Amino acid sequence: MPKTYGYKANLLAAATLILIVGLTVFAMLRQQSVQPGNPKLQGGQTSYLNRSYDANPENAFSLPAANLSFEERSQFAIGNAIFRRVWVSAPASTKSTDGLGPLFNARSCQRCHIKDGRGHPPEMNFPEDNAVSLLLRLSVDSDQKERDTMKIDSLEHPVLGGQLQDFSTQGIPSEGKIHMKRTYKNFVYPDGSKATLEIPTYSIHHTSLENDKILISPRVAQPMIGLGLLEAIPWKRLEKLADANDQNKDGISGRIPLVWVPSGTRVKGRFGWKATQPDIRSQVRGAFLGDMGLSTGASRQHWGDCTVNQKACRNALHGADKQAPEVDPKMEAMVVFYSKHLAVPARRNSGDSGVIEGENLFKSIGCAKCHTPSHTTSADWPEKALRGQKIYPYSDLLVHDMGEALSDQRPVANLSGSEWRTPPLWGIGYTQQVNGHTRFLHDGRARNLEEAILWHGGEAAESQRNFARLSKVKRSQVLSFLESL
Ligand code: HEC
Ligand code: HEC
Repeated sequence: MPKTYGYKANLLAAATLILIVGLTVFAMLRQQSVQPGNPKLQGGQTSYLNRSYDANPENAFSLPAANLSFEERSQFAIGNAIFRRVWVSAPASTKSTDGLGPLFNARSCQRCHIKDGRGHPPEMNFPEDNAVSLLLRLSVDSDQKERDTMKIDSLEHPVLGGQLQDFSTQGIPSEGKIHMKRTYKNFVYPDGSKATLEIPTYSIHHTSLENDKILISPRVAQPMIGLGLLEAIPWKRLEKLADANDQNKDGISGRIPLVWVPSGTRVKGRFGWKATQPDIRSQVRGAFLGDMGLSTGASRQHWGDCTVNQKACRNALHGADKQAPEVDPKMEAMVVFYSKHLAVPARRNSGDSGVIEGENLFKSIGCAKCHTPSHTTSADWPEKALRGQKIYPYSDLLVHDMGEALSDQRPVANLSGSEWRTPPLWGIGYTQQVNGHTRFLHDGRARNLEEAILWHGGEAAESQRNFARLSKVKRSQVLSFLESL
């Protein structure tokens, strides 16, 4: 008996030794390749190597930053649970998750940021339904002087407020339903090949209000990856890239929006399709309040986006306890932490010759003038995992005039309807696998990457023309490059 026991113990010891050596070698190899400045690791050390071999590409946007500590990972996990939490109306037996509404767009963050990826426009077959992952920002006409005197970014609709909530809790009238009509236009390339572009028009159905007096800006939910890294890019860097008056005469004049914050001051904006939110925390608070009707921080606005003219809604029961907001500050902090630390997937096929050729074209036809390939995050940033990373988001985070065709005709802050923030392109090749569609641009009108490019106008018109003039093979190389991100 003791003999076999000894033999087994030896075997166990040998196996353990092999395992330890194996793990050490693996860790050493990993350490060597995980270095800032590797274009394959678009999110710096937050990205994982060999993501292309992952068995579950549909989860590509849902992983915690690779360099989080053990404790930070549990914080991320709690944040994730709150991001997915389905809120209910008050009063409910589950005190910590009640307070939804009375008006809301969705019951959870995840309902819009599907699988931490992007939303989509309403489905063809249900023109008034399934609009959950797209929302309408609303306002009424105003000029900038008026807005600046009132210290606001947009003049809210007197009844509907700043956003259309198409859902409401029991007994409270909802604000109407999103209605969308589609028309089409043809695009003919210089070489004779054709494409069709889909043009959406939005209005509000089931409302007694006059639609033509309401300014509507449709927006799909944005992908959640790498947001903390984007926040950690120094303002100095963005200021250097900005060229508000196009002094270098290249036809491109990126700007940093100036937006009003509750304290009555104007600050620089960076998040959202128009970069009108200064930081992730404000965006998250805005989402709790506007999208789900939940108060956060110091806000006593438990009714969310209900205006004084919506009395039933203002007087409805809410989920707040005495002085506390509906979303506990600790809970809010976890969601903010989560929103900052979703890993950016590593690039795929970056060594393919077509992809390399596409990348060169991307630069030579002027795409990189706005889709700035790389930045380095602040070396002394408070969140450790995001510090000093060389990242490759392909965005200058500035707003650009993208032409009349993309305008929503709704001015906001110091921006016109046609100004949009250059969206980061990292991870864009995973959209189909994560979200099951390839809808792009602020309202999801483009049905694929090619259409997204063809919609570019205004400051991007020249690079759009350059793209259109390329041979079919070269155009598909540009697309392969985008797919590899
Ligand atoms: C009704 C759909 C919807 C819900 C629910 C929702 N979002 Fe969003 N989210 C959006 C849209 C649309 C945008 C773009 C907003 C804009 O451009 O004004 C956005 C933008 C963001 C951004 C900025 C991304 C960027 O690249 O700038 C963050 C962060 C974010 N949401 C977090 C959250 C969190 C956290 C929650 C839950 C508390 C949440 N969202 C709930 C639709 C939604
Ligand atoms: C003048 C700045 C500018 C230039 C130049 C430019 N883009 Fe863009 N790009 C933008 C902006 C701004 C948007 C968002 C527009 C919107 O949502 O309506 C965008 C959107 C995109 C999108 C969709 C992203 C998403 O998340 O929906 C892709 C893909 C893209 N651009 C690729 C390119 C390519 C390829 C080129 C070169 C042919 C190019 N861009 C040139 C500013 C620019």
